[in-house]
Amino acid sequence: MVTAAQHSGPGPDGTRVFPEGFLWGSATASYQIEGAVAEDGRTPSIWDTYARTPGRVRNGDTGDIATDHYHRWREDVALMAELGLGAYRFSLAWPRIQPTGRGPAAQRGLDFYRRLADELLDRGIQPVATLYHWDLPQELEDAGGWPERATAERLAEYAALAADALGDRVTTWTTLNEPWCSAFLGYGSGVHAPGRTDPVAALRAGHHLNLGHGLAVQALRDRLPATAQVSVTLNFHHVRPLTGSDADAEAVRRIDALANRFFTGPMLTGAYPEDLIKDTAALTDWSFVRDGDLGQIHQPLDFLGVNYYSPTLVSAADGSGVHTSDGHGNSDHSPWPGADTVAFHQPPGDTTAMGWAVDPAGLYELLRRLSADFPDTPLVITENGAAFDDYADPSGNVNDPARIAYVRGHLAAVHQAITDGADVRGYFLWSLLDNFEWAHGYSKRFGAVYVDYPTGTRIPKASARWYAEVARSGVLPG
Ligand code: NOJ
Repeated sequence: MVTAAQHSGPGPDGTRVFPEGFLWGSATASYQIEGAVAEDGRTPSIWDTYARTPGRVRNGDTGDIATDHYHRWREDVALMAELGLGAYRFSLAWPRIQPTGRGPAAQRGLDFYRRLADELLDRGIQPVATLYHWDLPQELEDAGGWPERATAERLAEYAALAADALGDRVTTWTTLNEPWCSAFLGYGSGVHAPGRTDPVAALRAGHHLNLGHGLAVQALRDRLPATAQVSVTLNFHHVRPLTGSDADAEAVRRIDALANRFFTGPMLTGAYPEDLIKDTAALTDWSFVRDGDLGQIHQPLDFLGVNYYSPTLVSAADGSGVHTSDGHGNSDHSPWPGADTVAFHQPPGDTTAMGWAVDPAGLYELLRRLSADFPDTPLVITENGAAFDDYADPSGNVNDPARIAYVRGHLAAVHQAITDGADVRGYFLWSLLDNFEWAHGYSKRFGAVYVDYPTGTRIPKASARWYAEVARSGVLPG
């Protein structure tokens, strides 16, 4: 359960004391860690198909084995316990639970998650389940995927099956993870599965993800105990202008509409932003939004999940920036429908192995903005972390001071936001383990725990030990 902050403040020597009850966790996602893609009735998801398509994923990597978590889950939960985690955010693989995306649940798939949740609870770790972290059953994509309304209805049916089977154990739920990526990278730039490049399909997908969220929230609420918590995780873009010009401010407005308000508008205020509809009017009349949809989407949420890695720097397009940058991969197609007047720039400062700028102030500013915009909605950082080129040294240790510095900086920003009034209830480090980083395959390591892929051996990195101490004490050292 995500509880309200009691008190927080500075400790001696610049240490920062987090509120009592602040939730310390780490996060993963099914396709990125499980492997066992053809076991116990699981069918292919769009990511299985995409990863098998030559040229889509670096080095031709797939999630076939990944970190083998499907077989090593007990060892992984033991690691979490060793790291003193209070919560674990994971996702349910839809094609394991409902292999065709329709009809009855597959018992063996559900059993895996029941065992996992039991083990977590036995170890005093709160399970936090995400329904949809991008592994759409391929059969549903074959029927049209997220650009089709029916997919939203399917999500609600799957949510009901998951809640019926797991609701006695799992009491904190997230509907979608980063629907912006599903819609605009999946159907716009095509750098994510299913790899389509159609701006109108991307906008339709975004709406149907919103609708799926609203229907799934209702399905969950109908089945879960009243004390259960239901949320959604969004990857907010903290958008900054390159200069103080009006034209750059206009670029910020456009990207903020497409990246952020596209989702918070309907989910938290019950309306699509008017400027978003105007900006995209040349592409669509938005007639895919039917009467009553906004009421279905606008459901009370117990908290808002915030994923933040790096800010976004934009200007009016004058030829100096790149047109399609989204920080996730290269494509000739833009993930930003209707925003060809906007250019993207590399923000200043150090970068991680993803090339993403390290900028904790962006997280602080984002949390302040969200608490001003949605004062009644508590916030949880459902993902934050960094990839670096980690390796095991000859004595078998993995030293990752840059990750410690990254997490320290971002936790200080979270703490400052809390001190300044933001209601932030928890922090989940991405990720527990090195894993399949989508189009980058295994080339990018985000884990607190190093995975030696040939053997599957796990080695907690220095950052894992460091994070464990912060989680145990609730204190960020100065
Ligand atoms: C966002 C996604 O939710 C997660 O799957 C991904 O690995 C991380 N960010 C890092 O890119």
